[in-house]
Amino acid sequence: MKRYVILISGRGSNMLSLLDAGLPGACAAVISNRPEAAGLGLAAARGIPAAVVDHRGFAAREDFDAALATEIERHAPDLVLLAGFMRILGEAFVRRFEGRVLNIHPSLLPAFPGIKTHARALAAGVRVHGCSVHFVTPALDGGPIVAQAAVPVQAGDDEASLAARVLAEEHLLYPRVARWFLEGRLALRDGHPRLAGETAVTAALHVPQTD
Ligand code: GRF
Repeated sequence: MKRYVILISGRGSNMLSLLDAGLPGACAAVISNRPEAAGLGLAAARGIPAAVVDHRGFAAREDFDAALATEIERHAPDLVLLAGFMRILGEAFVRRFEGRVLNIHPSLLPAFPGIKTHARALAAGVRVHGCSVHFVTPALDGGPIVAQAAVPVQAGDDEASLAARVLAEEHLLYPRVARWFLEGRLALRDGHPRLAGETAVTAALHVPQTD
């Protein structure tokens, strides 16, 4: 059975959606860069080994990356899932785990990389927003996109209402993509996601019904 590790920094709702999805693999560990991350307790309550590699204990980013890589490799995972993990991972880390690290980001990339995506989407006046799952590269939220889910921006939306609508889609999309990988159907080849031998990955697009 394939093994995966989840990296978190906070609340851990995407982590829970992965743990509760019945994925065809074993979660070997949840690792946080913040000891106060609420998700650590949620993982422990499900009997998942939880570890902390606190980035504040390292003067240089590369040293944190190396310590994190060592902790991940202790669990010999086939797949590393970033789920609300709020640190940029450097070149050496990404090369070490090339093609084995996925991230979920709360926007339709390449729009709105980085933080505060929902406020920026509202300020830009976009009519459609959403989330993306991508392979991780050293470019912030810039790796090859595997799948996306879109939601409408509705009249009267504020940051919280839009974030909640996107988050509901994150919780569906990420387990779906993780399942593809753990089933051996999804891989990164020559920098491009490949799904089940097809030459292109079909985007997963869910647009909820509106009244
Ligand atoms: C999610 O919106 C995720 O896409 C983003 O940060 C948020 C983390 O939420 N990177 P949670 O910790 O998974 O609840």
